[in-house]
Amino acid sequence: MALRFMTAEEAASYINNGDNLAFSGFTAAGAPKVITVSLAEKAAKLHAEGKEFKVGMLTGASTGDSLDGVLAKADAVKFRTPYQSNKDMRSSINDGRAPYFDQHLSHLPQNLRYGYYGGIKWAIIEAADVTENGEILLTSGVGIAPTAVNMAEGIFIELNSYHQKSLRGMHDLYTPLDPPYRREIPIYKASDRIGEQILKVDPSKILGVVETNHPDEVGAFAEGDAVTQQIGQNVANFLSHELKTGFIPSSFLPIQSGVGNIANAVLGALEKDKAIPPFEMYTEVIQDSVIGLMESEKCKFASGCSLTLSKTAMDEMYSHIDFFHSRVVLRPQEISNNPEVARRIGIIAMNTALEADIYGNINSTHVLGTKMMNGIGGSGDFTRNAYVSIYSCPSVAKGGKISAFVPMVSHLDHSEHSVSIIITEQGIADLRGKSPIERANTIIENCVHPDYKEQLRDYMKICAKGQTPHSLAAAFGMHTQFQESGDMRNVDWSKYTK
Ligand code: COA
Repeated sequence: MALRFMTAEEAASYINNGDNLAFSGFTAAGAPKVITVSLAEKAAKLHAEGKEFKVGMLTGASTGDSLDGVLAKADAVKFRTPYQSNKDMRSSINDGRAPYFDQHLSHLPQNLRYGYYGGIKWAIIEAADVTENGEILLTSGVGIAPTAVNMAEGIFIELNSYHQKSLRGMHDLYTPLDPPYRREIPIYKASDRIGEQILKVDPSKILGVVETNHPDEVGAFAEGDAVTQQIGQNVANFLSHELKTGFIPSSFLPIQSGVGNIANAVLGALEKDKAIPPFEMYTEVIQDSVIGLMESEKCKFASGCSLTLSKTAMDEMYSHIDFFHSRVVLRPQEISNNPEVARRIGIIAMNTALEADIYGNINSTHVLGTKMMNGIGGSGDFTRNAYVSIYSCPSVAKGGKISAFVPMVSHLDHSEHSVSIIITEQGIADLRGKSPIERANTIIENCVHPDYKEQLRDYMKICAKGQTPHSLAAAFGMHTQFQESGDMRNVDWSKYTK
């Protein structure tokens, strides 16, 4: 069956108000970039005519400005899930224009197959190659693509010539059976391959192919400062100490590393630290720093869901693609983030907190408990199932006016039961085997910024006795003071004890 080439406008003309769309990619890597722009233009035109036009948006994770950004700006979001990090989408979510539900990234493909979110009308898939018999070579991100093409009534392909056909062989596409037929996922080490290199679909479902030439819209990381570098060094020190004590086997264990500036700095520190042996990664996002780690032979292999690389790093990879073929595998997110595999192979999970409380509960997503930052992403998939789960963050934010450590988190993503270690630029809190009061003392003494140590010690003094002491009246005293005065410092706890 001959492929039907068309413009992005023509593809967008098939998409109607209320349709649920599933997109390829994971982060901005491999996400569609042109049909979505035409779709946003169509939405804006219809809105100007007073007509309703919104679509359901199912992605792998965050996307680029040409997907989340344009559709948010056009007010064309019926619902959005899962992770996002685009400033316009974030604003739409937080001011109530874009209904958003957050979830563990490994859950989304199976939740789609279970039918929880209705059907999928269209899958829009970026490809490096597509054939008349329905073989699709994905690009730099896999995400939910296998489930999306299977469930969708129709498929549009964005054939992106920026991405090279030499990617063939890097993907490992495997969709588990659903209960009650599911079996174990046969991955026993990061480099195991269990699936197909190519996505195969019924060719009659491919309605159109739109040709493009666009690199992924992956932003650069902020240059590490003294604080992020110290956090990275503290993580490296912790891991080398674990090796010395024998808690981590001398052959080391696969590393999972989260997203953002802190995660990037942590990987940089591991690269430099001679005490950390070469390692494998079983992770979600393969960032620029991983390419450097591979070139320096510090990272022997990386299993991930996407190559979330700047254009410079992606070009570098394409120019030495044979080197990377034997070192990288890209999997669907339900496999890259699979809790069963993470538990079996013994992941060292390293993620970032926005806020933590003195007992070790973590908020990764909500600023002051209310405003969505990005989403939980894969952090819970790994944290809950890790061999050792590390959370790191700077001890303060916004020039010291916000303490990362508060009496009670204003939103809970990862409970005290899943968090073993907290690390800031101030130091390391090892929470394993400690009671809540012991955890609080360790966190306050080792991780909290000096401006807030006394304040949190004083909070402990006004708490009602119990296994986990709290003053329910004062637990959000630092947050409420910040809302009133713009600074969490110098809370007067006595007003809660009158
Ligand atoms: N209250 C309010 N704002 C805070 C804050 C707090 N307690 N802590 C941090 N911030 C702000 C920072 O000031 C910064 O703001 P800016 O962008 O205006 O400068 C922003 O949050 C990001 O903080 P930064 O220190 O640069 O961290 P980061 O880039 O490493 O990102 C997360 C941190 C938590 C937002 C990010 O890691 C995330 O989204 N995590 C959840 C998903 C996840 O873990 N995925 C990985 C799984 S594999």
